[in-house]
Amino acid sequence: TDAGSDGGDTAPSGPDYGLVEAGTLTICSDIPYAPFEFEGGDNGTGYTGFDIDLLDAISKKLDLKLAVQDVGFDALQSGTTLASGTCDLGASAMTITEERKANLDFSDPYYDSLQSLLVPADSDIASIDDLDGKIVGVQQGTTGEAYATENAPGAQLLQLPSDGELWPAIQAGTIDAILQDQPVNIEHEKADPNYKIVEEYDTGESYGFAFAKGEKSELLEAINTALAELRDSGEYDTIYDTYFAA
Ligand code: ARG
Repeated sequence: TDAGSDGGDTAPSGPDYGLVEAGTLTICSDIPYAPFEFEGGDNGTGYTGFDIDLLDAISKKLDLKLAVQDVGFDALQSGTTLASGTCDLGASAMTITEERKANLDFSDPYYDSLQSLLVPADSDIASIDDLDGKIVGVQQGTTGEAYATENAPGAQLLQLPSDGELWPAIQAGTIDAILQDQPVNIEHEKADPNYKIVEEYDTGESYGFAFAKGEKSELLEAINTALAELRDSGEYDTIYDTYFAA
């Protein structure tokens, strides 16, 4: 989409959306979080995954190059990293919540998720009611942590800053279970048959791209438009099937 003439003769076309780097859509994320964001791929950013591929397609529609920075989830959801101008938006499988809307603006929802409980295949934990006295790993500041706090009051929570630390912790036996977004636990389950998901919880969560509050409304609108176009054209489904085909 050509967003219109700027009237000049040499300047590149299209609005600049107040980007932190002209011509580039710079996104902040918390990596690894497969299948949404992880190292690899061939788009030039060094990262791939559902979020990254979706934003790669969106950036192409906006005639922008894509760049990715791994900043950690806490920094992202507090809004400070986005407000400081490090990135144009946060893409981190982030659930749209009323609480976060105090610090952030969100795009339209782009993915609906569940929570889930992952345990070693030989565990005696069969449901969330079996967690009394168990150590449950959660990523700190996430909706998984909130769900565990509310629904497994007898469990001892171990809050780790990244999924990159939760997975080795369950493998080492430091934690008895991981409560987090279902697609990420599915990824672990697929990678290692010694782990299994015993329960899923429909928390009605949807992910959105996050923006510094009140500062990026033009970009937010352009991204919502591009997202709607990708849904209409079937490109969204192609990307979705890459990661979530049955
Ligand atoms: N969806 C959950 C939340 O918003 C977890 C997101 C964690 N994302 C990540 N890239 N580590 O709280």
